[in-house]
Amino acid sequence: MALSEEFLAELKARNDIESVVSSYVTLTKGGRNPKGLCPFHNEKTPSFTLYPENGSFYCFGCGTGGDVIRFIRLIENLDYIDAVRLLADRCGMQMPVDGADDTAAKLKQTVLAINRETARYYHTVLKSEQGKAALAYFRRRGLTDETIVHFGLGYSPEGWNGLRDHLRQKNFSYEQMAAAGVVSKGKNDSYYDRFRGRAMFPILDVRGNVIGFGGRRMGEEGAKYINTADTPVFKKSHNVYALNFAKSHGDQRLLLCEGYMDVIALHQAGFANAVAPLGTAFTQEQAMLLSRYTKEVVLTLDADAAGQKATDRALAMLRQAGLAARVIRIPNGKDPDEFMKNNGAEGPSRFRALLEGAANEVEYRLLRAGEGIDRSTDAGRVAYLEKAAEVIGTLPSAVQRDVYAGRVAEECGVAKQAVLDTARRLGERVRKQQNRQQLRAVTAPVRQNPVNPESVYHRRAANAEAGLLAVLMKNPDFIAKLAPDLSADAFVTAFHRKVFSELEQRHNRGQPFDLTLLGDAFTGDELGEVVRIQTLGRDRSNTLEECQMCLRIMQEERLKDAIRHRENDSDEQAIQTIRELAQNKGV
Ligand code: UTP
Ligand code: MN
Repeated sequence: MALSEEFLAELKARNDIESVVSSYVTLTKGGRNPKGLCPFHNEKTPSFTLYPENGSFYCFGCGTGGDVIRFIRLIENLDYIDAVRLLADRCGMQMPVDGADDTAAKLKQTVLAINRETARYYHTVLKSEQGKAALAYFRRRGLTDETIVHFGLGYSPEGWNGLRDHLRQKNFSYEQMAAAGVVSKGKNDSYYDRFRGRAMFPILDVRGNVIGFGGRRMGEEGAKYINTADTPVFKKSHNVYALNFAKSHGDQRLLLCEGYMDVIALHQAGFANAVAPLGTAFTQEQAMLLSRYTKEVVLTLDADAAGQKATDRALAMLRQAGLAARVIRIPNGKDPDEFMKNNGAEGPSRFRALLEGAANEVEYRLLRAGEGIDRSTDAGRVAYLEKAAEVIGTLPSAVQRDVYAGRVAEECGVAKQAVLDTARRLGERVRKQQNRQQLRAVTAPVRQNPVNPESVYHRRAANAEAGLLAVLMKNPDFIAKLAPDLSADAFVTAFHRKVFSELEQRHNRGQPFDLTLLGDAFTGDELGEVVRIQTLGRDRSNTLEECQMCLRIMQEERLKDAIRHRENDSDEQAIQTIRELAQNKGV
């Protein structure tokens, strides 16, 4: 990264975290640290916290944290340089011209060009003699020629290098093809086509770029679908299929279904607002992406057990993204593709009817509450009432609670007040449970810490290290005062050692330890952990004595560790170590 520190410092000063975040997250007003519901995971009480004093954010629920650039990267799904560009635009700063960033941008352009050429090639092959079986396959699945052209469907020929050789003729290098993910690298620097003998679905972004491919087997061999792995222009958890068409469709709502074929069948039937995730479960990023184009999403996922779980998950993500949701349940557990095929000419109108009767989220949850319960018996009705009351009890609005309590009461032939009373009691219980869970998440020592895996085994040392670093980040001049006891070697865990080294180096060079300037040295997750450590500093005395105490604990733990690993030492050495340990305690 070749952006100067001056540029980044100014960028950060002119994009204060609170005003940037507040256009995405509703923040509590007042108080030193504004809070809100975390946009990066699903939660009901705010644990997403801003630290305006150093321009950072941290979520105590999911551990995501960083500076304003990282926030924009995550929420807008941008890479580093584009996030910087967005912030520069926002405050009217000019981006510096730079050679280094150019190469990344150039590779992206090349990958897009390769993808476009690849899509064209697969489509041409589909229409050739070689593609006869694939064309028959698409037609057997009910697709018209018009649909095939509209979606740019294709066929990747059998054999290992049809595409590779075609792209080579167009002057792309093997490395570039591999970067696009359409060609794979084998042993001895050989390259071969990744998709072979498959029906191909090009994936376009909203700007119409071909960003990746899905390929379906036509026989029984191999995985049912394979998809492009992540490339410089494609991240499958961040994009959705057919949004390029659906976004400009007149319908205010988007239809979310499971796969490529469902989307295509729906578009062909006149529902051009259908989209699907790309070979993964629906993600929060995808929900955020949809929220830019619609206010309401209708879910048409499978009705089997897995599909219901997926629906619950998707509902949570949509809610988190501020989207209203409805759910369609297709009779007999079919997917939209099969539904259209089975209903022939009646398909579109029958689907339209389902769409009109789509349950809202509360109705859907009440439906689920009644599943598998026989309501013709008293016991069954009581069981249903309890479950339904729990759903009603967690609704945020009194009007909603009243309306649905009325419905349930009528269904079961009981008084509305009885339903409301039960709902209040059960709702209270659920809320308490959630609060407890949230509290536990905040106060529990981090059980697993991928950024600092050693902290799990060296908890005492790691806590002391983090405490020490927190104070040092605020008072880097302590580093010199604590020498020679304090050096990188004093740290037990590698991650904290790295943070310390960075801090020390920056201090020696007279540079501030500022998150915005650390992008090079740390990964996103590491930055989150750095912010967490910074937040520890707020409850500390921030004195030299405190640092010395932390250092002492670290030394103790290091020595203990040494003894543990010295079972084969001579007695003399062991005694020496123990003596050191004892001396150390006496300080
Ligand atoms: P499904 O397996 O549920 O789709 O996969 P389907 O309706 O039965 O598929 P068709 O109609 O027979 O073609 C749904 C989606 O999950 C992803 C694909 O995106 C697919 O569209 N998927 C499925 C994979 O990525 N890999 C697989 O092996 C299977
Ligand atoms: Mn299907």
